[in-house]
Amino acid sequence: MKIVFYGAGNMAHAIFTGIVNSKVVPAENIYLTNRSNEDMLKAYGEDLGVQYSYDDAALLKDADYIFLGSKPHDFDLLADRIKPHVQPNNRFISIMAGLPISYIKEKIDTTNPIARIMPNTNAHVGHSVTGVSFSSNFDGKAKDEILEIINAFGTALEVQEDHLHQVTAITGSGPAFLYHVFEKYVIAGTKLGLEKSQVEESIRELIIGTSKMIERSDLSMEQLRKNITSKGGTTQAGLNALSEYDIEGIFEDCLNAAVNRSIELSTQDDE
Ligand SMILES: NC(=O)c1ccc[n+]([C@@H]2O[C@H](COP(=O)([O-])OP(=O)(O)OC[C@H]3O[C@@H](n4cnc5c(N)ncnc54)[C@H](OP(=O)(O)O)[C@@H]3O)[C@@H](O)[C@H]2O)c1
Repeated sequence: MKIVFYGAGNMAHAIFTGIVNSKVVPAENIYLTNRSNEDMLKAYGEDLGVQYSYDDAALLKDADYIFLGSKPHDFDLLADRIKPHVQPNNRFISIMAGLPISYIKEKIDTTNPIARIMPNTNAHVGHSVTGVSFSSNFDGKAKDEILEIINAFGTALEVQEDHLHQVTAITGSGPAFLYHVFEKYVIAGTKLGLEKSQVEESIRELIIGTSKMIERSDLSMEQLRKNITSKGGTTQAGLNALSEYDIEGIFEDCLNAAVNRSIELSTQDDE
């Protein structure tokens, strides 16, 4: 299997590193290209054993999967670059937020299969939740191969294309929402009188430990919470204070705003 990455930026780097580390595809079968930053491609080649080139005809020849990893606003130029060299066996995988399959198809002027994925930054540690949606002309084998590639840097969640907006909100932007909550937890913690550095360090460990508990347990988060909440105890007192606020409503507002922005971006001509 030959995989080509058009765009070797932050997100693509997390993805091809995950693929190389998982050995789903040998590093020498992975090719990178970008707009102009050759030093970066050279460094990734030395680091990971992947190849790089600026010869589009050679890149697309015999390529099974082509990742489209530019920023959405750079895609029109990228499409112009790819269009003259497309081969019948090329299947495209877009990581670009907001650009519909129909738009990509039109700009590359192709009837070849196109998938859209919505990874998140946790791909860097092999834990991206990645929404994926396929054009109707994908065969089962190619779908399975793409799912295997996605599982190399986390977990795949197949959804219809319209639902990628919700995936974008819940898990695409999700790490930032959780970081924000953790930030506020640190600020509140420092007001209790301990050293700021002590609080920050403790809360980092708290978050890592809690994530591992979730990972290793079959219990729901509700049950995990109940297991450590004794009636009349300190945890119960804190939770009672929290229940004075509509936390669910706050997150509903947050997620709806992100979904609406995703829809807006996907319908803007210049995004
Ligand atoms: N970052 C995230 O958390 C995240 C999450 C989900 C989805 N995404 C999506 O991932 C995409 C990339 O984001 P990013 O943060 O990785 O961006 P980035 O770090 O800015 O990388 C963009 C890459 O695209 C390349 N590029 C631009 N025009 C090109 C062209 N004509 N031909 C070939 N390569 C070209 C750039 O090359 P040069 O370096 O040479 O200019 C660079 O390697 C975006 O569309 C974004 O919506 C990102």
